[in-house]
Amino acid sequence: MTVPGASNDPAPTVGDGPLDAAAAMRLALAVSARVHGTTSPNPPVGCVVLDRDGRVAGTGATAPPGGPHAEVAALAEAGERARGGTAVVTLEPCAHHGRTPPCTDALRAAGIVAVHAGVADPNPVAAGGAAVLRAAGVDVTVGTLGAEVAAGPLRGWLHATRTGRPHVTWKFAATLDGRSAAADGSSRWITGPAARARVHALRATSDAVVVGTGTALADDPALTARDAAGTPVPRQPLRVLVGLRHPRPGSHLDAPDVLHLRTHDPDEVLAALHARGVVDVLLEGGPRLAGAFLAAGRVDRVLAHLAPALLGAGPAALADAGVGTIADILRLQVASVELVGGDLVVDAVPGPARGAVDPVAPWSADQAGPVPAVVDGGLGRKGRR
Ligand SMILES: NC(=O)c1ccc[n+]([C@@H]2O[C@H](COP(=O)([O-])OP(=O)(O)OC[C@H]3O[C@@H](n4cnc5c(N)ncnc54)[C@H](OP(=O)(O)O)[C@@H]3O)[C@@H](O)[C@H]2O)c1
Repeated sequence: MTVPGASNDPAPTVGDGPLDAAAAMRLALAVSARVHGTTSPNPPVGCVVLDRDGRVAGTGATAPPGGPHAEVAALAEAGERARGGTAVVTLEPCAHHGRTPPCTDALRAAGIVAVHAGVADPNPVAAGGAAVLRAAGVDVTVGTLGAEVAAGPLRGWLHATRTGRPHVTWKFAATLDGRSAAADGSSRWITGPAARARVHALRATSDAVVVGTGTALADDPALTARDAAGTPVPRQPLRVLVGLRHPRPGSHLDAPDVLHLRTHDPDEVLAALHARGVVDVLLEGGPRLAGAFLAAGRVDRVLAHLAPALLGAGPAALADAGVGTIADILRLQVASVELVGGDLVVDAVPGPARGAVDPVAPWSADQAGPVPAVVDGGLGRKGRR
């Protein structure tokens, strides 16, 4: 099971030759993906130390809270080869004493002469590392592969740091006509094994998985992250149930480690999760809870798993999301469309604009947003439309 950006992503092949900053940043991203889901509330950072000839001397990623930061781990692996070298790190190195000493000190002590950071640190307490390093004569570049880094494993942490709320991904499975179950309520399975494996990988990189009591009572989901053999992976997300009703006694979510939040307010849910250090939330429905999160503007990413199948009747994937008229339609901007084992996975963010499509301009630039990447998972082709 291979999922881009997930912890099971294979590291890119690194030969013995020198790497440029972009290639090293891609490697740092892959290294960070392996710890995604294990570091919260700290950011999942990846770092590559290149020696003075540009060859990889060490790699490292953030350890669980209290453990070393990515830079320190990569420097330890590089040893003396770091002297005169370059550190390529997905997040601007920290300049403050937290549970560990500042990474800027470690980089200077190791003799690093240049630093490439993917994104600036938005956390006012830890920011300023670039300035500290520049003042010490280090050549610092911030923004190397910035857009790719911001959309990678750091995405949720960057969002949570800027907004004070966890990042919410709403994931759902539906037929092409938008049904999430048949008329008799049966719903297993709408999508195929490859798309379902994706969901397990997503759970493994999320801090919390959230469902409403309606889904718990109808489906009795386990909400665990499992591997291809169906075995739970070692690190499991916090399972969260939202609503006033109790789960059925003896059901999967009637368990002491399940957080049951007896509320209908998405902001209360997010505040409770934020207080527990949750950064990445996977909202798995159902239709009413997802509608409430969308109506409150609390969905940051939509992952639609669409099976090329039709039901014609049965419940819709989404219930009331606060849209009463076409003028209020909630438009999304598509980041990518991927074919995963025969199912379509659409990755999108809520767009800034609401409203009907202009009938004269069928695909106007302001409604289109960024040009989505279209990936054919079956053939491995990558294209743009
Ligand atoms: N295809 C998919 O991706 C997918 C995913 C999940 C579920 N489903 C299907 O969805 C169906 C269940 O639908 P559902 O809508 O009942 O599930 P739901 O959204 O999981 O649960 C609804 C319940 O959530 C609670 N809730 C919390 N905040 C709410 C709010 N702001 N507004 C409304 N309700 C809120 C309420 O519980 P209380 O009444 O207890 O207070 C409400 O009854 C099942 O058939 C399941 O198979 C499909």
